[in-house]
Amino acid sequence: MHKNSGKRVGIVGAGNVGATVAYSLAMQGSCHEIILRDNKVDIAKGKALDMSQAASAIRSHTVVKVAEDMSQLVDCDVVVVTAGSPRLPGMSRDDLLMTNAKITKEVAQGIAKYSPNAIIIMVSNPLDAMTYVALRESGFEANRVVGMAGILDSSRMASFIQEKLGYGGGQIRASVMGGHGDDMVPLPRYSTVAGVPLSDLLSQEEIDEVVERTRHGGAEIVGYLKTGSAYYAPAKSTSIMVEAILKDTKQIHPCAVYLDGEYGYKDVVSGVPVMLGANGVEKIIEVTLNDKEKAMFKQSCDSVKKLIDTLNKNNFFEDQ
Ligand code: LAC
Repeated sequence: MHKNSGKRVGIVGAGNVGATVAYSLAMQGSCHEIILRDNKVDIAKGKALDMSQAASAIRSHTVVKVAEDMSQLVDCDVVVVTAGSPRLPGMSRDDLLMTNAKITKEVAQGIAKYSPNAIIIMVSNPLDAMTYVALRESGFEANRVVGMAGILDSSRMASFIQEKLGYGGGQIRASVMGGHGDDMVPLPRYSTVAGVPLSDLLSQEEIDEVVERTRHGGAEIVGYLKTGSAYYAPAKSTSIMVEAILKDTKQIHPCAVYLDGEYGYKDVVSGVPVMLGANGVEKIIEVTLNDKEKAMFKQSCDSVKKLIDTLNKNNFFEDQ
């Protein structure tokens, strides 16, 4: 009945985002087994039992288990990494760089050892830099390490467009490229409502407001939650990526990937449309950008490069 019944998904970090990814996958019966890994083992155990019971309630075959350490996260097809400190009010995603880079390093090395064939989906912030760290520290090929951000950012943009218009829900295709930071690149020119260009529906001023709100969509939620950051939309966006990989859909999604010459950039991670399938990132799509969009994309890549430079200056990649 379930095409993907043999699949196993590992989730490192069973906090709000990780647990909600697990719940979403369990409710869709996307895989046979979900393994949660968290330093707070008892909390993870409680959540795993609770979710397995929810799966039983809907007659899903998915079971949720716990890995007490990385060595029990064995032979996963996909591993989602949400481990790390979340954003708190007043913090930018970049403030988390050093703390989360160390955690990501340890986790990526563990994945390489115990789930050597997995596709890694990075979710921890600062997202693009952490995707870069996971790639370097796992030693995986670039197609097997991908970051979640573009689906989230474009969903936020779509939701803000719907709010502005007051109609069109479910028909909006919004496009956001670049890094998952304050200089991400929302692309109104490539955003439509049922195929109608945004510029035919909203004034330039309204479009500018949507763009600005999208750029700060994460911070808006942090401002309300106060003790952490968003998790429903981040988790759903992640589970969409997991499913695309497990089901080998070959559909296009905006994701954070390592650029090796694409768009004229090398040795950096940024958000671009990619085709996701069983081999992870199976194709990087190069969208035609105008000069203004290119300049914004450059600024966003430069910001990510700065974070990578900081890691290099601290000899982060050398002391292994
Ligand atoms: C967000 C943060 C967590 O965008 O990156 O919600």
